[in-house]
Amino acid sequence: MTYLVGIADPIHASGVAWLEEQGARVVQGEEAIGPRLAELDALIVRSRTKVTREVLERAVRLKVVGRAGVGVDNIDLEAARARGVMVVNAPQATTEAVAEHTIALLFAVARSIPQADASMKQGKWEKKRFVGVELAGRTLGLIGIGRIGAAVARRARGLGMQVVAYDPYLNPEAIRERGAEPVASLEDLYARADVVSVHVPLTEETRGLVGRDAFARMKEGVILLCTARGGVVDEEALLEALESGKVYGAGLDVFAQEPPGATPLVTHPRVVATPHIAAQTREAQARVALDIAQEVWAALTGGELRWRVV
Ligand code: MLT
Repeated sequence: MTYLVGIADPIHASGVAWLEEQGARVVQGEEAIGPRLAELDALIVRSRTKVTREVLERAVRLKVVGRAGVGVDNIDLEAARARGVMVVNAPQATTEAVAEHTIALLFAVARSIPQADASMKQGKWEKKRFVGVELAGRTLGLIGIGRIGAAVARRARGLGMQVVAYDPYLNPEAIRERGAEPVASLEDLYARADVVSVHVPLTEETRGLVGRDAFARMKEGVILLCTARGGVVDEEALLEALESGKVYGAGLDVFAQEPPGATPLVTHPRVVATPHIAAQTREAQARVALDIAQEVWAALTGGELRWRVV
């Protein structure tokens, strides 16, 4: 049997080649896929393509949706479940890349690296303007300590930071094993953290989780990082907290609406913004493409699934 696999968003060539070696026919790009939706056995997406109920209804043969990455908030999981369509993802491949980017944003904010670079490029030498803050001895508070949170914790400890974490899905021992001191509540985390970093998916439970009330409880001069999902941080509340000086600076890779455009948050002088690139390393993208190709193939051929979401 030949399977038709649609790849809606570009993935690394290694994954496409692997599927073709197995004998799959591959159709790439939203435009090419659109008219052939009803023929697809599998659909692979990244975060750009929204797999809505309507898409799933039109894809009458579809057996599996593969998400080349971690977050599945762009897939209607309820509709997939109702139609008996499996959803799989590739949650391991991008862990180190996202953790590295989180730390990169932390340094960028703490030492105003992008602003200093922009100033140099204008021929200036503003030594007095760029006085940063040190990280050693400071406390990092992780909201969520899954794979990525744990990888960030490892790096932060290497920088001499103390790490605390709140994760209602893990018991205190598991949080300790992941390299952080567990705290009992988000309130405790906000009271202790000099840097708050978000590592939870976007769900109904986490939407707007870091909002006005959260900022009110945080320390003066806190740094906020989010490389997880737009929508978890309430962007209006963050802007207010930046303007009041409560938040020293923010490093953001994800936004409630992507692309966000030149919003007051993105253009704020103490925000370092990147266009959802935390997972965009050559190594991670090659791994993620191969992982999702193999997982989707396993779903089509009755193989063992490592990362089934639905
Ligand atoms: C992910 O969920 O894997 C990352 O945010 C990367 C992406 O969506 O491209």
